[in-house]
Amino acid sequence: MVKVALISGSLRSESVSTKIAKNVGELFPAGYEAEFVEIGNLPLYNEDIDTESNVPAEYTAFRNAIKSADAVLFVTPEYNRSISGALKNALDVGSRPYGQSAWDGKPAAVISQSPGNLSGFGANHHLRQSLVFLNMPTVQQPEVYLANSFEIFDESGKFNEETAPFIQSFVDAFVDLIKKHQA
Ligand code: FNR
Repeated sequence: MVKVALISGSLRSESVSTKIAKNVGELFPAGYEAEFVEIGNLPLYNEDIDTESNVPAEYTAFRNAIKSADAVLFVTPEYNRSISGALKNALDVGSRPYGQSAWDGKPAAVISQSPGNLSGFGANHHLRQSLVFLNMPTVQQPEVYLANSFEIFDESGKFNEETAPFIQSFVDAFVDLIKKHQA
């Protein structure tokens, strides 16, 4: 079973990012298992508390969840033209201890969303900047910038007819990338 970790950059209970991540998780083919990984419980990254003798349990659980995944999907809102502090914190926690990054080499994919017209372009590319450094090969095409994101679902809470085929093509591209890295 190929495991895909789903990460949402928003902590709020009614988050559109989280809703998108969970919906995308259902679009993977047979043989894939998507698992939502929480980031809201992670203490702010501080090297002083990340010592060999005293690693916060939340850090360890998060790092293990990422390490056990074969690939990572990020869905990010845009906060002040960048990613949320919560998402940056999760990237930082997963990247340490030095030389033991949980992210290293894992295929990734990025969706940004915004309830307005701008679709989180700034967040999408700030996130990609970190993913380059974290050595995560990332789906390049199709890029997914979801504008007016409150309107992309139907009454049942699934992607609407206009949105679903595009998101499926993105998942297909992600699966191709994952396969290349498993070969
Ligand atoms: C926002 N929002 C926002 N939207 C945007 O398109 N560009 C931006 O720079 C910002 N900046 C921003 C900062 C902060 C601190 C908050 C709380 C919000 C609005 C944001 O897109 C909106 O709240 C989304 O609904 C957040 O995504 P979730 O929580 O629904 O996943």
